[in-house]
Amino acid sequence: MKAKQGVVDLLNKILTEELTVINQYFLHAKMCKNWGYDRLHDHVLDRSYGEMKDAKAVIDHILYLEGLPNMQRLGTVQIGETVPEQLKSDLAKEKAMVKMLTDGIEHCTKARDFTTRHMLEDMVKDEEEHIDWIETQLETISQVGLQNYLSEQIKDNS
Ligand SMILES: [Fe+2]
Ligand SMILES: [Fe+2]
Repeated sequence: MKAKQGVVDLLNKILTEELTVINQYFLHAKMCKNWGYDRLHDHVLDRSYGEMKDAKAVIDHILYLEGLPNMQRLGTVQIGETVPEQLKSDLAKEKAMVKMLTDGIEHCTKARDFTTRHMLEDMVKDEEEHIDWIETQLETISQVGLQNYLSEQIKDNS
């Protein structure tokens, strides 16, 4: 199906951001593993995989619209050197993504592309859940203190 005006461009912008956050979250997860925070590792790795599913959906949809997915471009990966820094950096990415998706939804409404709009609406729901989870972690840290929070992230194998 031929794409409506500007839709492939906006999908490629979203794709760039998805590819960027896949890398950022993946490295954050691996750093957590290295520090011994297995629980945090599992969660952040799952989030990275979730973004990979988003990237897959966007790529499939660009091809469906007879466009060319741009896999060359990557945004700035912002790596935090501590757990709170990682959480804040990921939160910034998620918020930027919601803004991009919301703008995309608006564009699709104007262009009367309801299939793309529906896909973006589903994606925005997931990103909002990601924001909620990260905000909860930051709130917990401020309530119980970083040390207590981190000691809960070490998996108890006994
Ligand atoms: Fe995503
Ligand atoms: Fe996300």
